[in-house]
Amino acid sequence: MAQATELERKAKYRKDYVPSDFQIGKVDLSFNLFDDRAVVDSKILFSRNSESNAVSLQLDGEDLKLLEIRLDGKILQADKYKILENGDLFLEKVPESFELQTVVEIHPHLNTQLSGLYRSGSMFCTQCEAEGFRRITYFLDRPDVMTTYSVRIEADQDVCPVLLSNGNEVGRGECADGRHYVEWHDPFPKPSYLFAVVAGDLGCLQDQFETSSGKNVDLFIYSEHQNVDKLSYAMKALQRSMKWDEDVYGLEYDLNIYNIVAVGDFNMGAMENKSLNIFNTAYVLTSPETATDSDYEGVEGVIGHEYFHNYTGNRITCRDWFQLTLKEGLTVFRDQQFSADMGDSALKRIDDVNVLRSVQFREDQGPTAHPIRPESYVAMDNFYTSTVYNKGAEVIRMMHTLVGEEGFRKGMDLYFERYDGQAVSCDDFRQAIADANEIDLNQFENWYLQAGTPILKISEKYNPETQEFHLYCEQSYKGEAFKSNKPLHIPLRMALFSSSGEPLAEEVVLELRDEEQDFVFKDISSRPVVSILRQFSAPVILEFNQSEEDLVCLILNDTDSFNRWEAAQRYFGRILHRKYEALVKEEDFQFPEKFFFVVERVLGDNNISPGLKSYLLALPNFQSLSSQIRDLNPEYLYLSREEARQALADQFFNKFEEIYNDSQLVDQYEPSSEQIGFRRLANTCLAYLSLNAGGKGLDLCLRQFKKATNMTDSMAALVCLSHVESTQRIDALSVFFERWSEEDLVMDKWLAVQASSTCGDTLARVKALKKHPSFSLSNPNKVRALMRTFASNPIHFHLESGEGYRFVADCVLELDKINPQIAARIAGVFSSWRNYEQKRRGLMEGELKRMRESADLSVDTLEIIEMSLGR
Ligand code: BES
Ligand code: ZN
Repeated sequence: MAQATELERKAKYRKDYVPSDFQIGKVDLSFNLFDDRAVVDSKILFSRNSESNAVSLQLDGEDLKLLEIRLDGKILQADKYKILENGDLFLEKVPESFELQTVVEIHPHLNTQLSGLYRSGSMFCTQCEAEGFRRITYFLDRPDVMTTYSVRIEADQDVCPVLLSNGNEVGRGECADGRHYVEWHDPFPKPSYLFAVVAGDLGCLQDQFETSSGKNVDLFIYSEHQNVDKLSYAMKALQRSMKWDEDVYGLEYDLNIYNIVAVGDFNMGAMENKSLNIFNTAYVLTSPETATDSDYEGVEGVIGHEYFHNYTGNRITCRDWFQLTLKEGLTVFRDQQFSADMGDSALKRIDDVNVLRSVQFREDQGPTAHPIRPESYVAMDNFYTSTVYNKGAEVIRMMHTLVGEEGFRKGMDLYFERYDGQAVSCDDFRQAIADANEIDLNQFENWYLQAGTPILKISEKYNPETQEFHLYCEQSYKGEAFKSNKPLHIPLRMALFSSSGEPLAEEVVLELRDEEQDFVFKDISSRPVVSILRQFSAPVILEFNQSEEDLVCLILNDTDSFNRWEAAQRYFGRILHRKYEALVKEEDFQFPEKFFFVVERVLGDNNISPGLKSYLLALPNFQSLSSQIRDLNPEYLYLSREEARQALADQFFNKFEEIYNDSQLVDQYEPSSEQIGFRRLANTCLAYLSLNAGGKGLDLCLRQFKKATNMTDSMAALVCLSHVESTQRIDALSVFFERWSEEDLVMDKWLAVQASSTCGDTLARVKALKKHPSFSLSNPNKVRALMRTFASNPIHFHLESGEGYRFVADCVLELDKINPQIAARIAGVFSSWRNYEQKRRGLMEGELKRMRESADLSVDTLEIIEMSLGR
């Protein structure tokens, strides 16, 4: 419990925000890089804010060794400053304005947290968001302190021929002893979290972009030399992003240079440092042989995301970290729009809703639930959550739905006009959208204040005499935690169809503001079929007992492709839940005729695009099903889904095979949405065919695995094989290993496919893989591939012996010593422990408590554990 109070002491609260006492006029940084250390010399111009009369100054610092300190050029005596317990630098008495110079030594090669300045391979790189800059030098490391940076980097010319920082190169030269330096200046004031330095022996791909006003921008994407042949898709994605932001938001790039560097060791996906993005290699490198279609989509989306931050994040940034969704929710929404415009928009929406429902909904209903704008945190890195990101994007999307495309653009224009160059709040954004459209978005603030997934109950009534149709809507929350939540302002996109699928009423957006509301539609000539929550117009749990006939009508006829899929998911979800209940109660259950009928109609409908067809044929995923069930028995849920798949595979083997054959492409690989659609459909069919494991199904998988010329088809076949208890599975895995052991990112796939296998030996294999030379606990991608994937294995993580839980908890403890941020993420897999049936619930709780008792746990991991157990 002592730990819990320590956490409370370290907690920060949104309500406590106060502006900084001091501003920074400019900063000069000089980096001297050596093999075993870096020396950082910083000169900062401070001046007291006019509203403040503070005389002392406290600068953030962490793991720094202070070598020298001067105030206005004079060495400061030891009694004039203090290094506090947490590493901060405290100056008792400072003038109103002054220059502070500090020289510190840091140790990049020992920095396994990957925050601050660290080494990845032979390369030096930085990660400063959220609070990593304080690990580089003493500073006011908060986003509302914005200033301009001049940087000098010096290093050995052979080890680090490339020396990069933000902004423009303004000088370079040679020094003694084979060393050299480059100087950079960034004219745009920025918060410290957007600072970056990269040094190393890097190759690069160079290209250009001409902006709408005719300015030329030099684009560089850097990577280790052996990977420069995998950069061209990322470059094209960058150019498309730049064009898209001009076309859709009128936003033109503001410097003459844009750099991206790919690094192998990175805690997150990518980082938007001003004009020097740093990316996880997983979101840059592609080739048809090594990257799947989803990898390509990921690269395009993340390149777009970090580019779009240049306006939504960098030019206008966050006042404090509680406002994180201001930049992340908005930028995720923008990258979603971008990807939708570049590919198939309905399928993109389905992907995004799947993530929302399987990750965010779970989070929002568990012990780590928080509003998109949290009220408090201990370790900020723990709050880069699906709620802040994905629900945050949904909240922006709802504003977009309420004011429409043009209205949203007007709102964005006003937002930039008012706040360019400033650090602002979520309220400021909402007000800009409201003012530009002259609407009231006050009630809409509840989306920022409240955690929990709202439940939207719908019922309908049609009166043939009056030709009136009533739609009753009711919003509520489930659970004590959300008892005091207030009604939300919810946009409800809907349309009406006749029972034969003809449009009856145009699409409208209803606005729900009260707890209960009744909408009446007049002159409806026959009982209508409602297509509700089109495009998933609000992040809610829909409770609508719509008839099976109506759902089937929507699956076959809805003009909104997203809602066709959604109707199928709702229908399949019901069946799977019934099957699950039957398994729990040890009752008999036959899949109904209509289940097969629906699938048959979808299979036979030649007007459905291949991509959409593949989605329509997919049963709801395990994660999104599980968030709806109390006392979950994961094994039974898995079984119910598998038996449904098996039933479909048995019933439609020939049809699956026919579609599989018809969907084979002969053209050269391209990551176009057309080709992706065909591959997805073929591989969806293959997954069903593989369930005929004794016979032809297995052969088809083996054949595809052998002859595949791209990673999408190769992986799809390997995934199928990985679930089949057979020597062929073992052989395929070793063939794959031999072929790709030198390709880091492909090895991640090799690890992940084994960690997600449902075959009996999975835990033993995963334990062995942890010791395999291709694995490393200090590389986040490897940890995600093996541990994170294993923790979503519905069978083996949840073994009734508790061994799966124990293994992951042991990994968390080991990892916590290396990289607390990643350890905390993995620890998060236990947070849903209360959802499981008694036995597993007890086992998971036991592991949480065991981890909590472990000595010297990081605050990151401890915070997640304490939240999970419920403080
Ligand atoms: N600013 C973040 C990266 C970040 C987050 C760095 C937390 C340090 C701590 C970046 O813009 C981002 O959001 N990246 C996402 C990918 C994106 C497409 C959602 C990521 O890294 O997962
Ligand atoms: Zn972001």
